[in-house]
Amino acid sequence: MNPFAPKKEELNDSAYWVMVEKIRDLVPGAAGRTAEFESLGIPTNVLCDGPAGLRINPMRKGDSNTYFCTAFPIATLLASSWDTALVRSVGEAMGNEVLEYGADVILGPGMNLQRNPLCGRNFEYYSEDPLITGKMAAAMVRGIQSQGVGTSIKHFAVNNQETNRNTVNTIVSERALRELYLEGFRIAVQEGQPWTVMSSYNKINGAYTSESHDLLTKILRNDWGFKGYVMTDWGGGKDPVAQMKAGNDLLMPGSGKQISEIIQAVKEGKLEEKVLDKNVENILNIVLKSPKFRGYANSNKPDLKAHAEVTRKAAAEGMVLLKNGNNALPFSNIKKVAIFGVGSFNLISGGTGSGDVNEAYTVSLVQGLENAGLSIEEKSMKEQLDHIQKAKAKQPKQLFFFMPPAVIPEFSVKPALASAAAQNADAALITISRISGEGADRKAEKGDFYLSDEEVNLIKIVSSAFHAAGKKVVVVLNIGGVIETASWRDIPDAVLLAWQPGQEAGNSIADVLLGKVNPSGKLACTFPMKYDDVPSAKNFPGIELPDTSTRKPGSPLEEAFLRAKPAEVVYEEDIFVGYRYFTTFNVPVAYEFGYGLSYTTFDVSNLVASSGQFAGKYEFSVDVKNTGNTPGREVVQVYLSAPAGKLVKPAEKLVAFAKTSLLQPGETQTLHFVLTPRDLASFDEATSTWIAEKGNYEVRAGVSSLDIRQKATFELAKNLTVEKNTKALVPEREIKVLRP
Ligand code: GLC
Repeated sequence: MNPFAPKKEELNDSAYWVMVEKIRDLVPGAAGRTAEFESLGIPTNVLCDGPAGLRINPMRKGDSNTYFCTAFPIATLLASSWDTALVRSVGEAMGNEVLEYGADVILGPGMNLQRNPLCGRNFEYYSEDPLITGKMAAAMVRGIQSQGVGTSIKHFAVNNQETNRNTVNTIVSERALRELYLEGFRIAVQEGQPWTVMSSYNKINGAYTSESHDLLTKILRNDWGFKGYVMTDWGGGKDPVAQMKAGNDLLMPGSGKQISEIIQAVKEGKLEEKVLDKNVENILNIVLKSPKFRGYANSNKPDLKAHAEVTRKAAAEGMVLLKNGNNALPFSNIKKVAIFGVGSFNLISGGTGSGDVNEAYTVSLVQGLENAGLSIEEKSMKEQLDHIQKAKAKQPKQLFFFMPPAVIPEFSVKPALASAAAQNADAALITISRISGEGADRKAEKGDFYLSDEEVNLIKIVSSAFHAAGKKVVVVLNIGGVIETASWRDIPDAVLLAWQPGQEAGNSIADVLLGKVNPSGKLACTFPMKYDDVPSAKNFPGIELPDTSTRKPGSPLEEAFLRAKPAEVVYEEDIFVGYRYFTTFNVPVAYEFGYGLSYTTFDVSNLVASSGQFAGKYEFSVDVKNTGNTPGREVVQVYLSAPAGKLVKPAEKLVAFAKTSLLQPGETQTLHFVLTPRDLASFDEATSTWIAEKGNYEVRAGVSSLDIRQKATFELAKNLTVEKNTKALVPEREIKVLRP
């Protein structure tokens, strides 16, 4: 039962229900549609999920055509490419499918900060860092909207967990809000101009985001200049009148009850019509740009073959080579591979929930390796396929299509089987996979954040057998979010982080394993030594408060997705999230933010700066040389260490990055960077102002947040007021925030 389905008893308006009936089945599988007013020449707009590709029903009753869409790599993988041009190309392909399948707005990109590794929807989001988040989201928005369709950046804002997401009150300082949780959205709004923004389910400092005039008008419109319209998340918030006043123009999916309450409020003088006029104007300004209004004759035949090539390439570009001992990769003189792990036979293309895609296929690892000319060791494959078949037969039925499927227990490999495989094959591949999605967070337990005992045994037994035979072992991580690696990574020869790479998964992985693509991905999130090292581990996902409501439990679906247990979470770690914490507090990590290996090596040298003073900007360049013997690409990351002053600061923050073109062995490319006053600034709560404090700044150009290759300093002679913002979203109470 769809908890969002409008109920007739809520609104006695036959014309409304006739209209609802008329548009209800436009583009089956769409998440929602805006109202249509035929007599006024106002068409509906069809709104579809999601961040990894258009999500619509692949089949339609009585229609022999199919409506499959391309499952692109997850946002976390795209961010790991550090390549905004690549992300834009994915957006163009995705936007073309939105256009050709007759939709008007895609409900993405998802871009909440990855505050804690256990958030179930991290796969839909980009990074722990706001700059990467904003730049990737802006590139995606520009790519999609270049096709004449709209986007909806989400979930605005501070929606960093799934637990009690419809009610949780997020208590966070103004500075952490501005510098971390809102900054990515600001960049996306100002550099991408998204047609729409989707407010989130949660509260910020006591107010539902969809009811917050501070957030949706003072910050989004007055401070940032947003020009489109704001929609709720589905069923988000409580008070439609407050939502109208806040500047949440559109209520999705919309209900008769909300309409009645708004009409009643106008009649009682509690809501001025001019407020509604503004909301409607914001919506119509976007409808006027939509394909529906333009009368675009969609083909229902996007070029899925061409888009498959886009996703295959993008996935390979975002994979991260974490370890490559004994030059295990790229495979050479490898003809037959033994593959192990349930994940090897069940590759996960993306996460679950509204961020899922109904794609026509996912290329398996076996197909990918065979397409690349390799064969698979038969005996070990057969035994594992039998194991999977038996396990699947016992799996509980999926409650809802939205929920992650039950986990198939890992295969318990016998040493004899591993030894036999080691005799027959030239190398071994072990896939560790994880899946999560909307409506639930992950757990810091074995089988989730940590490997299960069976997975560890699998790696140990297979590695022991293949190493005894003088052969190499590669672990492939097919995951949507961070897991623990430090306790087992020394066992295999190599570790490739493939993330959830979209529908061309097996081909993209094979392209990297065989060296057709030289991996150039870098982590956009930290892999900690253990979960408890994460600064938000102490307070994630917050606490549940006494439930004084008389609410009767809803349907299982409502309880799973809309359960309304009062809750709160305090962001005590404040501005120290991710590498900002680990570098400032010198906490060792397994793999640092910005880390990633290549099949070649690079030298970063010759930092040349415009001057030692900051005079309105600071320009510099560095040279990147391919010092190895394989063509490859490098990412230069620029971190800034600001002087201590009135405001405490993290040890460093990312202020710029650039990826080289494919450099041939011996080739050098010069990368140019310009730092602006905003890059130097911190947010001062006392004056609601971005200020750059005077003193010496250190520029660090490196290939990870810890691997710095070139440094320079410049002086800012006096404090600089960079930008004045409005006072907004002040916490209701004092927060004890983490300080070094
Ligand atoms: C969901 C999600 C949102 C999605 C919307 C429509 O609850 O939170 O990301 O776009 O509803 O499906």
